Amino acid sequence: MQDKNILIIGASSGIGYALAKSLQDKGATLFTAGRQQPNGVQSTHMTWDITQTPALDALNQLPGVLHGLVYCPGTINLKPFQRLTMVDYRNDLEINVLGAVSALQAAYTPLKASKGASVVLFSTVAAKLGMGLHSSVSVAKSAVEGLTKSLAAELAPFKVRVNAVAPSLTDTPLAESAGLLGDDNKRESASKRHPLNRYGTPDDIASMAAYLLSEQASWITGQIIGVDGGMGSLK
Ligand SMILES: NC(=O)c1ccc[n+]([C@@H]2O[C@H](COP(=O)([O-])OP(=O)(O)OC[C@H]3O[C@@H](n4cnc5c(N)ncnc54)[C@H](OP(=O)(O)O)[C@@H]3O)[C@@H](O)[C@H]2O)c1
Repeated sequence: MQDKNILIIGASSGIGYALAKSLQDKGATLFTAGRQQPNGVQSTHMTWDITQTPALDALNQLPGVLHGLVYCPGTINLKPFQRLTMVDYRNDLEINVLGAVSALQAAYTPLKASKGASVVLFSTVAAKLGMGLHSSVSVAKSAVEGLTKSLAAELAPFKVRVNAVAPSLTDTPLAESAGLLGDDNKRESASKRHPLNRYGTPDDIASMAAYLLSEQASWITGQIIGVDGGMGSLK
């Protein structure tokens, strides 16, 4: 990662934070964007609330060449279908999908200029596996998967790779705020739902993102890669 310019949107917590720390240790030059500057990460930070400011205005300190873009903002808004409102669906689409589209449009020229860039987006195991209460987030994340494949096809001639990581439940502030890992009982039942008998750590997911950014993944594009303790594929 030495001499690679990497933009992480949403590096202040969870998976994005774990990734920023790991890429910093590997010598990457980091550019970060989000509402808060990540603690203990050396980066050129651009303050951006994806729901308020257009990316083209906010991402104004991007370098001329960008080797990687990782878009981390996401939602876990679990409710019975009848209780989900249009506002919920729009909010999930805005944060998971439209924010990513907007960031990619702002970073398009520097990504192309690298002649070998990698884009990493985030889906969820719930886009592949039907899971009750997930209809809004699975709509949004399925759109992320469509975006991943379509852009991978369109940008392959420019050697820009586009992949998505699809985690299952991972111990981050997002999962915490959704109340999924709130006490020992919830943690134990969350572990038991996974074939590998545990929920994920931010590093489990960040290490796949780091791999997809690296030269070792230079022949991988258009993939949705489950990092989910077996949840998405095993009974
Ligand atoms: N954790 C899980 O169990 C799980 C499961 C499946 C999929 N995923 C997906 O994995 C990805 C990362 O999730 P995570 O658990 O690491 O989430 P997280 O802990 O909530 O971190 C999300 C990051 O996105 C940024 N962000 C959120 N809203 C934003 C906004 N309006 N404008 C700008 N930045 C914003 C936050 O930064 P600021 O607050 O500084 O803006 C934060 O750094 C998400 O796409 C999520 O859907 C997570």
